[in-house]
Amino acid sequence: MYPAPFALERFFARHEFSARYLLSASDCQGPGMAGLVAGADPDLRRRWETLTLGYTESQGLPELREAIAATYGGPGGAGAGAAAPGGNAGPSGGAAAGTAGPPTADQVLTAAPEELIFLAMHALLSPGDHVVCTFPGYQSLYELARSIGCEVDLWEPVETVGAGAVDAAGGAPGPGEAPSAVQGGAQRGGGAAGAPGWRFDPAHLEALLRPTTKLVVWNFPHNPTGALPAAADFARMVGAVARSGAWLFSDEMYRLLEPDAESRLPAAVDLYERALSLSGMSKAYGLAGLRIGWVATRDAALLERMKALKDYTTICSAGPSEVLALMALRSPEPILAANRARIARNAGIAGEFFERHRDTFRWVPPQAGTVCFPRLLDDGPGGQPEAADDRAAGRAGGAEAFCAAVLEGTGALLLPSTVYGYGDSLFRLGLGREDLAAGLAALDQFLSSR
Ligand SMILES: Cc1ncc(COP(=O)(O)O)c(C=O)c1O
Repeated sequence: MYPAPFALERFFARHEFSARYLLSASDCQGPGMAGLVAGADPDLRRRWETLTLGYTESQGLPELREAIAATYGGPGGAGAGAAAPGGNAGPSGGAAAGTAGPPTADQVLTAAPEELIFLAMHALLSPGDHVVCTFPGYQSLYELARSIGCEVDLWEPVETVGAGAVDAAGGAPGPGEAPSAVQGGAQRGGGAAGAPGWRFDPAHLEALLRPTTKLVVWNFPHNPTGALPAAADFARMVGAVARSGAWLFSDEMYRLLEPDAESRLPAAVDLYERALSLSGMSKAYGLAGLRIGWVATRDAALLERMKALKDYTTICSAGPSEVLALMALRSPEPILAANRARIARNAGIAGEFFERHRDTFRWVPPQAGTVCFPRLLDDGPGGQPEAADDRAAGRAGGAEAFCAAVLEGTGALLLPSTVYGYGDSLFRLGLGREDLAAGLAALDQFLSSR
């Protein structure tokens, strides 16, 4: 079956290259090509200057896969998780963390991240399979399973305001309507039970799992809420998947963008042999244009199926992209540190903005990653519902109308939650770009002129 249109990608295709301020981008500002090449070691400079432009190895440049493999596996790996969950993470109930060593270069397949989602879903799934996926989220993570004919259960987060979880509607929450949110106050990093902000409850995952569940798909740090499970929650989640025997597709595109190393979760491939860890150059490194990502998995047969499918998509990656990605991965820290610093700076700027407009929005900063999901209050100051013509003018209520009015009035692009199929009250804000302050200043003006 032909998959439903990817609403977010269609939205960006329409607006991304004409908007003045990209306030909803999910990637970080990356180094330019000249900067990458100038910082490369002599070996890579030579490789760059003598590069031919023929086909490349289908699984990915071996040296690039070696650099990728080195980002996994315990304290030695550059991207290693600081908070390895112990206890019940292993498939038979024992902790698997670190026991098998990091994945090898042979256990890595490179392609564009979105392509890898396509390859993995088609390599893993058959009609009728049961799949559980975090929601709201990046649409291909659940839409492709649906298009294959799977039964997909959506695992939604709860949002906590101050001291307790809130159901703003006073009853069972519908999509996008579950929580109210908290203003200011919340800290970045580690979403523990009861802490303000979004949280995926492991008990909800346990309730959705069946003995026949084929695949669990999650994305942490999470797009769009910025949720990052606390280590204990994460251990419980991995344990639940392992006990069920399901495959685990762990989208770790925003990993390494935690505010501190302590809150970083281990990569799923380091914990569970039926896990696939997805990562890439797009978000943490700010190099989305390279179209280089990877899946690491210990299952050789599954990797073979994905490799065989790649012969029907791109066959191989672009040689220049592979070498540029290797340049970034050989000296990652300056890039990652700059991006984490920018996100922290922007979180401060956003916090001040939302404090100034506390009658219009409620907001929690992301616990990790680049994006967050502020709520547009549908009651005006004093709790009075806004009139319908206010709504149409982007003064209230509907996030879609608000974002359209903002785009028209300021050229700033915000992403309404309707694009996620998650109600009409929230919008995504991205903290990874340099122009956030200028974009929010324009939004300040827009709001004060209404
Ligand atoms: C959670 C998530 N997974 C995967 C992707 C796909 O990454 P790319 O655009 O680099 O293919 C994205 C992109 O926004 C994403 O947010």
